[in-house]
Amino acid sequence: MAVLPIYVAPHPVLKKPAAPVAEVTDETRQLVKDMLETMYATRGIGLAAPQVGLSLRVLVMDVEQTGGETGEDGDAAPFVPGKPFAVINPEIVWTSDALNTYEEGCLSIPGQYAEVERPEKVRVKYLDENGQPQEMEADGLLATCVQHEIDHLDGILFTDHLSSLKRDMLLRKLKKWTREHEEDMKESYVLP
Ligand code: NI
Repeated sequence: MAVLPIYVAPHPVLKKPAAPVAEVTDETRQLVKDMLETMYATRGIGLAAPQVGLSLRVLVMDVEQTGGETGEDGDAAPFVPGKPFAVINPEIVWTSDALNTYEEGCLSIPGQYAEVERPEKVRVKYLDENGQPQEMEADGLLATCVQHEIDHLDGILFTDHLSSLKRDMLLRKLKKWTREHEEDMKESYVLP
C-alpha cells in the first residue's frame, strides 16, 4: 500500500473528464487500496482518481471515519475507519428535487471552503472493487460527498458551482495558500 501525492488545482488533470475502467482487475483493486490509504492519511472523506493524477472513473469515500482530532494535550485521538466505499464507473440515476447546502472542501483545493448547494438525495449505480454492479441511495453528507467526487471524474471542482466572483476570490486565496505552504507541500502534493 502507498500514500499517493495529491494533485492541486489548477492542475490540468483535475479539469479533464476521466475514462471509464474497462475491466476491474487486481490493478484496480490496488489503486482503490492506495486511494483509501491516501484519503485516510490526509483525513479526507472522499478521493477521486484524478486527484492522484490518474484520469480514471474511480473514487473512494468514507464519511463515517472517526478519531484523529487533536486534543488539548496535542495528541491525536486514535483513528478508526468507518464505512469505506470503492465506486467504479459511477452513474447518477436519480436526484431528489430537494436541495441541501454543505460547506465543502477538497484535498485538491487545500485550506479553502465554500457552501455548495446540491440535491439532498441521489441514487448511484456503480461497480464495486470486485466488478459487481451495485446501487446506493445516499443522503446527507454521503450524498454531497458522492456528487462532489463524481464531479471530479467529469473535470468539475466544487469551485465551479460558485458564482464567478466567489470562485475567483477562492482561487486567488488558494494560490496564496499554496505559495505560503509550498515547502511543507513538496512531499505529499503535486503543485500545478
Ligand atoms: Ni474534491
